[in-house]
Formats: sequence, C-alpha cells, structure tokens
Amino acid sequence: MRAYHIEKTGEISGLKQVDLPQPTAGHGEVIVRVKACSLNYRDLMVIKGQYNPKMPVPRIPLSDGAGEIVEVGPGVESLEKGDRVAGCFMPGWQASGCDNAAQRTALGGEADGMLSEYVKLPATGVVKFPEHLSFSEAATLPCAGVTAWHAILSGKPALPGHTVLLLGTGGVSIFALQFAKLAGARVVVTSSSDDKLNFAQKLGADFTVNYRKDPDWDKTVLQWTGGVGVDHVVEVGGAGTLPKSINAVRMSGHIALIGVLSGTGDFNPISILMKSINVRGIYVGSREMFQSMNKAISVNELKPVIDRSFKFEEAPKAYEYLASQNHLGKIVIEM
Ligand SMILES: NC(=O)c1ccc[n+]([C@@H]2O[C@H](COP(=O)([O-])OP(=O)(O)OC[C@H]3O[C@@H](n4cnc5c(N)ncnc54)[C@H](OP(=O)(O)O)[C@@H]3O)[C@@H](O)[C@H]2O)c1
Repeated sequence: MRAYHIEKTGEISGLKQVDLPQPTAGHGEVIVRVKACSLNYRDLMVIKGQYNPKMPVPRIPLSDGAGEIVEVGPGVESLEKGDRVAGCFMPGWQASGCDNAAQRTALGGEADGMLSEYVKLPATGVVKFPEHLSFSEAATLPCAGVTAWHAILSGKPALPGHTVLLLGTGGVSIFALQFAKLAGARVVVTSSSDDKLNFAQKLGADFTVNYRKDPDWDKTVLQWTGGVGVDHVVEVGGAGTLPKSINAVRMSGHIALIGVLSGTGDFNPISILMKSINVRGIYVGSREMFQSMNKAISVNELKPVIDRSFKFEEAPKAYEYLASQNHLGKIVIEM
C-alpha cells in the first residue's frame, strides 16, 4: 500500500512517499481504507520537529482521516465492513478526563497516523460519521472539529446570548464559529485578511476585526461589548495573543487555551486573578465528545468548511499551503 513517512524532521522535504505492507486486523481491531485526510497546524509542528523533538522516525503523519472499514477483527461487534468512519485523535481516550496512556495513542505524533491507504485502529478508536458528510468533510473532524466542540460546548458551554471571541480563521476557529452560532451565541472573529472576515460574516460572524490593521483589537472588541468584555475566548494564538484575550474577556469569563500560533511572549498572570478568569487548557477531546459533536452536526446538517483539497501525490504541497496561512477552515488530502 502507498503511505507517507516523515523520514526526517526539520523541513517539509522530510515527507517521503513509501510502499508498506497492508495491515491486517487483530482482536478488537478494524482496518480502514482511508479516503481522505485533513491537515492541522500540529502537523506542521510535527514535521518541523517542534511538537516532540524526541519523536521517533520514520512516522506516518496526520491525526485526521476518514474512510471505509474493509476488515473487522475477532471480537468486534459494533462495526462492520462498509461502515464509514473517522479515526479519533487519541484512539485511547474514550470519555471523561484524559490521561498519559491516552495521550500516548495520539495519531500522527505519538503513534503512526492516517496518511496511508490503509490503517489499523482499535474498534473503540473510530466513530461513524454523519451520513450527510463526504469522506473529505468527515476527515476534517477529529482534531479541529472536536477541539472546537470541546471549547464551545463541553465543560463550560457557550449559551444563547453569550459572546464568543475567535482568533483568526484557521481550522479550529471556523469550527468554533459554526458551533457558537449553533449555541445561539454572538461571535467576534479576528483575522489578518478582510476577505477572510467577509467570509466569516457569511458564516454568521456578528462583528469582525482585522488584527493587522487594528493592533489594539482587544480594545475594539471590549468597546463593542460596551466595555464589559466577551464571555468566552477560543485562544489559539498562545503567548503572543493571551494578554489581549485577557483584556477582551469579561470578569469571570472563560478562556479556552488551545494554541500557540503567535509563538512566545511575555505574560503576566495578574489579570487572570484580578478578573477571576477561568482559564481551561484543552487537548482535543474524547471519543464521547466526538460522538456528541456528530449528533449535533447531523441534526443541524452542518457542513465543515474546506478551503482546498489536494491529491495524495501532492501531500507536500498541501503542507506548504498550510504553512502559507492563506487558507480559511480546512485543507484536505484525498486518496
Ligand atoms: N490544544 C489542542 O488540542 C489543539 C487542537 C487543535 C489545534 N491546536 C492549536 O490551535 C492553533 C490553531 O490550529 P489550527 O489547526 O486551527 O491552525 P490553522 O488552520 O493553521 O490556522 C492558521 C490561522 O490562524 C490565524 N493566526 C495565525 N497567527 C495568528 C495570530 N497571531 N493571531 C490571530 N490569529 C492568528 C491565521 O488566520 P487569519 O489568516 O485569518 O489571520 C491563520 O491563517 C495551533 O496553534 C494548533 O497547534 C491545539
């Protein structure tokens, strides 16, 4: 079967197409014929060696993929050949809190991932996806979709009438926009691009700010909320944006700490206590969250936003496109 290996970390050129033996299903396992994968910012960090500098290579990359079950191992009763499934980001995280053992199962990082024609997964590490979605659409769900679901609707959910602040228009933020609108919240989106902000408005954004043109975007957002601040922030920027997110959130508001897009920066935690802010670290989500999200996606016939699809042979180009940050929403690789 065809697959990709990260043979060397550091550059995208470390990604090489290889021929590997096709896996067979053991007890409790299924074989999925992968039809589509999607890319996340994490995949760039993995190939550059920034995610886990000690990651052993070669490694099959990508956490996110969807396909059809072609073989069911002994002891598997919940799934059958022909089922359309997506892999879970951490096949070992079923429900409630995450632990070290579950983290070690994360696909495309700690374990081999989905950029392969066939993958072997535990039956408990896949979910059936909504019928109205294509394989490409389903392939966008495991990391960005579940993370956004976790941030917006799990734990401390956004409620009707709440205000949610989203940074940028990448995969997590666009899913968060869609879920926040499902929840009946008002949504603020920031972006470096006016074109992307126009698109975000079409998806339901109530207020938009270009963070390049308006470096004091936190003050602009605060003003828009009448000086009160937003109820929730989906913080994908990290140290470089966190002080402004803290400024833009209300007293006793919520910040879901998710990403590191803006690199490093100085950070003084005093406002967190002075404003009694609830800061919650999020690492994707469990299989149970994935299943809850799928129900909501089905009932609301929600469609993930795919910016561009690449062919399997073009995987390195898909990585380059992700690195350019010209995309809005998700980038897909079709097998
Ligand atoms: N903790 C977790 O479980 C988890 C899960 C998923 C992702 N993440 C993290 O969350 C972040 C987003 O991931 P993703 O896959 O959605 O990324 P992505 O699709 O690559 O998003 C890239 C977009 O982020 C925006 N951006 C970049 N720098 C920014 C800044 N300084 N301020 C505001 N927006 C900025 C840009 O949007 P515009 O072009 O509109 O400006 C850019 O196009 C990454 O750091 C990723 O590692 C964490």
